[in-house]
Amino acid sequence: MKRKIRAGIIGCGNIAGWNELDKAREKPCTHLGAYRRREDVEVVGCCDIDIARAAKFAKQFRIGFHTDSINSLLSKRVDVLSICVPYTRHFSVLKAAINNTCRPRTVFLEKPISDDLNRAKEMVELCGRNKVRLFVNNRRLSAFYQAFKEAIKEKFDNQILFVSAWCSSGMHAIGIHMIDLLRSICGEVNWVFAVQEKESIRFLPYSHNYIPTDPRFCSLLAFRNGVKAAFFNTAKTDFTYFEIEVLCKNGRIRAINNCGKITYQEKLAPGESSLSYRLGGEKRVGFASRPLFEDLINEIIDGDYGKSPMRGEEALKSYLIIDSMKKSTRTNRIQPVR
Ligand SMILES: NC(=O)c1ccc[n+]([C@@H]2O[C@H](COP(=O)([O-])OP(=O)(O)OC[C@H]3O[C@@H](n4cnc5c(N)ncnc54)[C@H](O)[C@@H]3O)[C@@H](O)[C@H]2O)c1
Repeated sequence: MKRKIRAGIIGCGNIAGWNELDKAREKPCTHLGAYRRREDVEVVGCCDIDIARAAKFAKQFRIGFHTDSINSLLSKRVDVLSICVPYTRHFSVLKAAINNTCRPRTVFLEKPISDDLNRAKEMVELCGRNKVRLFVNNRRLSAFYQAFKEAIKEKFDNQILFVSAWCSSGMHAIGIHMIDLLRSICGEVNWVFAVQEKESIRFLPYSHNYIPTDPRFCSLLAFRNGVKAAFFNTAKTDFTYFEIEVLCKNGRIRAINNCGKITYQEKLAPGESSLSYRLGGEKRVGFASRPLFEDLINEIIDGDYGKSPMRGEEALKSYLIIDSMKKSTRTNRIQPVR
């Protein structure tokens, strides 16, 4: 019988496993939940800087080994390591894992890759040098992203003029997902111009990850294909908000309800009246939602790393845009993205 793939988890919090107990979420919705769906994977241990948290996690999810030391976790011969610690600690935890003699061959890192461009670059380089496959969580494989992209192509032949995008919380918490979506629709960015949103609410009732100092930007993005996007990111709401509208040559397409619903309007056939020169009624694009985590883990285990949209290099490109926005707010100038 083939040996099972050995998975280890560091950071025993919500996205690692506890969200699995949230009845409102489609399952699997965590690293642990998705590993457990696969018969060829076994979760061999978990680790948390807070040993009590590691113990509670191991007990709840019946994991045979827990520790507060990454070295002890890796000594369990971990093939795939999930890093689910706060993103400000991604750099130090990844570095410790790669520098370990029992380094894993594959790392599944939570998003965003880091909170600093130089650290993000170093992480990608370090993994490359040590032949470690670095996957970073993003939504590119989600049923919604794929259906939205497909509909722009099918209904409007990809003839995009402008994009407007809105999202709540900060750039590292939620904004990175929108940047990733914009890149997947419009391609790479030439330059950005950004201003910083100053006000924010102090806490988000549903998110202990919310950091009021996480920057929020309103920005113009110019893509290499000539498309421009207006992007609004605010932390003034205490509800989640993630919407996008794409204006095309022959109509418009929108994702509303936090991307739970896609609607579009096509231009009417030209007629005698000036009233025919407008958009027709709103229609809906159907798509079957799928639990994203299942697809993420399948990509990591079975996918072609060279072609994966989850590669560290891809996450780095998205982070570069955030970094360029930061620079633009400091200089009050257009900032090339490179
Ligand atoms: N992909 C998504 O949709 C999504 C959703 C939520 C969170 N996240 C990301 O996942 C990460 C974790 O989020 P969460 O909600 O699970 O947080 P959490 O606070 O519930 O869990 C984080 C855990 O990491 C532990 N930890 C902190 N530093 C550590 C270290 N150096 N070594 C070992 N353990 C350490 C903490 O004690 C805590 O138990 C964040 O970076 C967040 O951005 C992603």
